[in-house]
Amino acid sequence: MSAAAGRGTTARHAGSLEVRGLTLSIGGSEILRGVDLSVPAGEITGLAGESGSGKTMTGLAVCGLQPAGSRLGGSIEFRQGDEPPVELLSLAPKAMNRLRGRRIAMIFQDPSASLHPMLSIGAQLTDHVRHHLGLSRSAARRHAIELLERVQVPDPASAVQRYPHQFSGGQLQRIAIAGAIACDPVVLIADEPTTALDVTVQAGILRLLRQLCDDLDLAVVLVTHDLGVMSAVADTVAVMRTGEVVEHGTRYQVIREPVTEYARELVASLPHVPPPGAGVVGPDSGEGPAGPTGIPADAPVEVAPHAPEEAS
Ligand SMILES: Nc1ncnc2c1ncn2[C@@H]1O[C@H](COP(=O)(O)OP(=O)(O)O)[C@@H](O)[C@H]1O
Ligand SMILES: [Mg+2]
Repeated sequence: MSAAAGRGTTARHAGSLEVRGLTLSIGGSEILRGVDLSVPAGEITGLAGESGSGKTMTGLAVCGLQPAGSRLGGSIEFRQGDEPPVELLSLAPKAMNRLRGRRIAMIFQDPSASLHPMLSIGAQLTDHVRHHLGLSRSAARRHAIELLERVQVPDPASAVQRYPHQFSGGQLQRIAIAGAIACDPVVLIADEPTTALDVTVQAGILRLLRQLCDDLDLAVVLVTHDLGVMSAVADTVAVMRTGEVVEHGTRYQVIREPVTEYARELVASLPHVPPPGAGVVGPDSGEGPAGPTGIPADAPVEVAPHAPEEAS
């Protein structure tokens, strides 16, 4: 794997997001009521909370993909390297389009939502990079194969010739991730990326996200209603409730020592988050011994470290 794989052709600098007092209303109903969230480079920021609390809307607003007719307020500041910060809420649609898919990428629960059923994987990955990076056809194909290697899809050279229906759900999510990182993003919003997958496959996808975050210094927002998933890979956890972040701290703090009653209840309601002291995260140091991907060796996701990916 070349060092340049997944990084496009230009030098890159890590970036971050700073969301302050973000409000969103649709037809007079307030959906986000002042969301505050810091998303630094090289970290996975988990966004947890019950269904309907506004997690997806927050991710969509960052990408400028909120529903038509939404009214937005507050601030979403995007920073990259030494460049002056960009206020996403005041960007013209054209400028936002350029940023989205290139600097800010998103993956969803259903990977087939971002893949066309009638186009080969190679065509989909190369169209994307040819459009955004201006690569030649053959360079784009090499880039696509490198991307598939990076996301650990078996036999990338033949995978580029195949079609979405020929892959399993877990492999499709890897391919969607390859598409998301194709143009060298600095921010990745992953909205419930493992919710539709079974548990052993989930673990592999989470490890991949962790690895990409570390290797590419990505600022990752991992949206999930599942605190168990969160406890395995997130560096910090923000808990949303009715359109607000009610608690944000390190994963250790939020899962082991939640401050708000709501976060306490959320943690307590999860059958697969072991009770405090059972080793979800480490002992009093705050973290367990980290594995090569930075995931604590005793985190739930590592329970089946060699779990086979389902056949594709
Ligand atoms: N297109 C839409 N128009 C109006 N309201 C919406 C729309 N999509 C979602 N909502 C509402 O916004 C709120 C937050 O939704 P969402 O961000 O999807 O929640 P979560 O991802 O946390 O489950 C919910 O009350 C939902 O009903
Ligand atoms: Mg959602």
